[in-house]
Amino acid sequence: MTATILVGAQWGDEGKGRVADWLAAESDIVARYAGGDNAGHTVVVGEKIYKLHLIPSGILHGQVVCVLGNGMVVNPVNLVREIDELERAGVPVTPERLIISTRAHIITPAHVALDAASEKARGKEAIGTTLRGIGPAYLDKTGRQGLRAGEMIDVETYADQLIQRIEAANVVIAAQGMEPLQPQQATEAYIDAAQRLRPFLRDTTLYLNARLKEGATILCEGAQGTMLDVDHGDYPFVTSSSPTSGGALIGLGIGPRWVNRVVGVAKCFSTRVGSGPMPTELEGDLGDRLRGTGANFWDEFGTTTGRPRRCGWFDGPVVRYAALVNGFTEMVITKLDVLSGFETLKIAVAYDIDGRRLTSPPETLAELSHAVPVYETLPGWSEDLTGVRRWADLPANARAYLERIEALLDVPVKTVSVGPERDQLVFAE
Ligand code: IMP
Repeated sequence: MTATILVGAQWGDEGKGRVADWLAAESDIVARYAGGDNAGHTVVVGEKIYKLHLIPSGILHGQVVCVLGNGMVVNPVNLVREIDELERAGVPVTPERLIISTRAHIITPAHVALDAASEKARGKEAIGTTLRGIGPAYLDKTGRQGLRAGEMIDVETYADQLIQRIEAANVVIAAQGMEPLQPQQATEAYIDAAQRLRPFLRDTTLYLNARLKEGATILCEGAQGTMLDVDHGDYPFVTSSSPTSGGALIGLGIGPRWVNRVVGVAKCFSTRVGSGPMPTELEGDLGDRLRGTGANFWDEFGTTTGRPRRCGWFDGPVVRYAALVNGFTEMVITKLDVLSGFETLKIAVAYDIDGRRLTSPPETLAELSHAVPVYETLPGWSEDLTGVRRWADLPANARAYLERIEALLDVPVKTVSVGPERDQLVFAE
């Protein structure tokens, strides 16, 4: 009868998609509150693998209404493509099942081009963005010159506004020595997308509040992760939105009184794509072993960009900080099966920075860049966990590993995943 917020505790890619898929089964509505198609959720249902970027994985559950909230930035052309792909796979996506906030911001072709231009201008300091236009779209939003989804209703004015923005962006793009956009050509697909998406547009704030009042259960689905949050992450190597739990309230227009559960998702080791500090990063064999070869879709290669992810040991200070910022009430620890076969495992419990011991990430990038992890070494386990379905059947060392994480975070670990399939979840007894 309330709202659950689902948040990534690391740098994104924690496995939120499969957790959202599980929680969606108990929800009436699944609403995304921040980010755009920089996200990538992979959900496996039997033989089928769904790769979603904008639409919440709740769409795979017949009873669920999916909402793209006001806090999102939406590329309409990519959204139409995703709707078409789902429909081709036999998943109906109708305006009764998918609602887009009229207040969400539009990612224009200009934003996508400006993202590339800005990364090029940064040279060695590049963020390593997903090049989906996310930063420039949020920049226009906060600069009070963005284009909102509701503008798609009046297609003619919308087209004029798109052209104006493309022409303005062309000046910056040309200055970077890049190919300018053809305004008319770049706008065509956007106009087609606007016609398709009009029936899906609605005031989602009023809708969500009315449904909450009636007793509906809402899952607020976060994308990215806490360390990519524009306030709480390792700025400037962050995304431009607030993936943390506070972002859910702003990004959906609901009050804190409705929230009774904040579920944190962390992988049992660390991964990161793009640039920025990662104190527990492992290079060489150990990193490769955690990453996998790429032969399986759940190996550590980006869903959106295909880039290999940087891998490292579990970073206690990062996830502990995430627990504080988000107010996690419980944790899901994912991919525990991947750790089978390591003789010993390490967990960073603190950082040493110039002789100071910190249990949370420092505020400045300069300090974080030379943080030396303080590790605890735990015994590993050799058993294959993919078939485990009861907590008591987890090897004693795996349980000890989870208990150490629980103690570090001071949040109960209630669920672990041991593989990508829907039923490969183990619940604490
Ligand atoms: P942007 O969100 O495309 O601007 O990228 C900013 C940073 O966030 C880059 O380091 C990206 O790799 C990272 N990022 C954005 N979305 C995701 C995600 O869904 N998973 C992991 N990293 C992401």
